[in-house]
Amino acid sequence: MKEIHDEIGTLLRGMIEKREKALKLGEVDNEDLLSVLIDSNLKEIHEHKNPKNVGLSIDEIIEECKLFYFAGQETTSTLLLWTIVLLSMHQEWQERAREEVLHAFGRSKPDFDGLNRLKIVSSIKVPMILYEVLRLYPPFGLLTRFTYKEMKIGGITLPPGVLVGLPILLINHDREVWGEDVEEFNPERFSGGISKATKYQVSFFTFGWGPRICIGQNFALIEAKIALAMILQHFSFELSPSYVHAPHVRISLQPQYGAQIIFRKL
Ligand code: HEM
Repeated sequence: MKEIHDEIGTLLRGMIEKREKALKLGEVDNEDLLSVLIDSNLKEIHEHKNPKNVGLSIDEIIEECKLFYFAGQETTSTLLLWTIVLLSMHQEWQERAREEVLHAFGRSKPDFDGLNRLKIVSSIKVPMILYEVLRLYPPFGLLTRFTYKEMKIGGITLPPGVLVGLPILLINHDREVWGEDVEEFNPERFSGGISKATKYQVSFFTFGWGPRICIGQNFALIEAKIALAMILQHFSFELSPSYVHAPHVRISLQPQYGAQIIFRKL
């Protein structure tokens, strides 16, 4: 673990220092997230008379890079993976989704405006299939918060030093919240949007909630829609006989024995 930690730290440090130099020399624009991060940091340090304790240290930028990579890559790939598994199990939904995609784009590459018109695979408002996958198989099943001082939540007083767990996975499978068909794959439950899908408000927080809500959620849904639309355009898919359904928490929710899928070119 230490070796990997050091190796990634060295790689990222090299990239950051190279980019910082290029930005100072005006050789690159704010063309990606790393440049935006470094540039705004340099500006903040520059604007302060006493630059000590202002802006991010290089170690903090390294941690931000790791967070974005992990938070952005692992999550969306997990969403796509379970989407493919569930659409393999529920061929009727795969067909409905494909029909919609072919109707919107034919065989051509999906464009951004067209994506927003998709209702079954998703529209910005109602990404039915993707939300239902995120409900049944949330990439992160547990959020935690730590109390630094005494807090009152509802009628409960929590002393400092308490770790509070918000069990997304359990809430997403709670019959009381979602109704009798809680264990069924039923994207239709999201046809009226998120707020109408559950009995209570703020029951569906697969992307978190409040000030720390996922900064990448729209990006993730667009990415997933594009990938899914392109797969549906070109392939039909089903589970391989070797597939064993065993969702398993390994930081994110993974298929314990892999996800063997048979793809057929259309
Ligand atoms: C299906 C995809 C995704 C899911 C389910 C997801 C889930 C979450 C959740 C639950 C949180 C809140 C964590 C907490 O409150 O403790 C979070 C935060 C965050 N996510 Fe995502 N995420 C996804 C995609 C992405 C993508 C694509 C990016 C970036 C490109 C991203 C970047 C972040 C960042 C930077 C935070 C921390 C925000 C903050 O603390 O202010 N996420 N995400």
